[in-house]
Amino acid sequence: MRTPIIAGNWKMNKNPKETTEFVNAVKADLPASSKVESVIGAPAVDLQALLDAAKGSELKVAAENCYFEDEGAFTGETSPKVLSEMGVDYVIIGHSERRQYFKETDEDINKKAKAIFANNMLPIICCGETLEQREAGQTNDWVSGQITNALKGLSAEQVASLVIAYEPIWAIGTGKTASSDQAQEVCHVLRETVAKLYDQTTADKVRIQYGGSVKPANVKELMGKDDIDGGLVGGASLVPESFLELVKFNA
Ligand code: G3H
Repeated sequence: MRTPIIAGNWKMNKNPKETTEFVNAVKADLPASSKVESVIGAPAVDLQALLDAAKGSELKVAAENCYFEDEGAFTGETSPKVLSEMGVDYVIIGHSERRQYFKETDEDINKKAKAIFANNMLPIICCGETLEQREAGQTNDWVSGQITNALKGLSAEQVASLVIAYEPIWAIGTGKTASSDQAQEVCHVLRETVAKLYDQTTADKVRIQYGGSVKPANVKELMGKDDIDGGLVGGASLVPESFLELVKFNA
């Protein structure tokens, strides 16, 4: 009942020319978005090229970040209003790299989520624990707290439409994937968190991705878990053939 969503997160890789080439290589082979939603998250400098190349195809477009104000004296920031005007569908917020290197707080992420909805786009809200937190048995409380803070003030309808991405920090770019059971356990906790904050109907609708060294070899097993509805994929989304294998995991 929940449409799977596989989103590439290119991070700070690729230029506009490479973006166009990538989209031209994949766009004819993407599954119908009613079966699997295929999304590419690209740096702001590549978004126009991505949107132009993806036009008329099944590919949806995500920004990797935005600010929480629509306009003003915020040098270097990206306006959610302008992203929306350009035709962007999703904005990834709260990625652990943004939290770690750019000191984004839960409060910032909550403000960004509200700004994204106000501009008719959907947030992909990331959460995840460090290895130390996992080893100390703090994972479930930590990610549940991150998501509780991110969702403050959002309506049940908004929450039902957004995407949560569970990304254990120790599995990002390390080649160490969480086992499908570990990923399922945390994704289940996140769904229960939404049920407690809202209701079961909302929790049953929200889509939860797993991210952290997802690749063609493990995508099927991860997607087979009850509470995992998609993947947020870094490294393996950079190569057209590999991205196509990921979005066609159930073909
Ligand atoms: O947003 C994507 C994640 O950070 C995962 O990256 O697939 O390279 O481990 P990765």
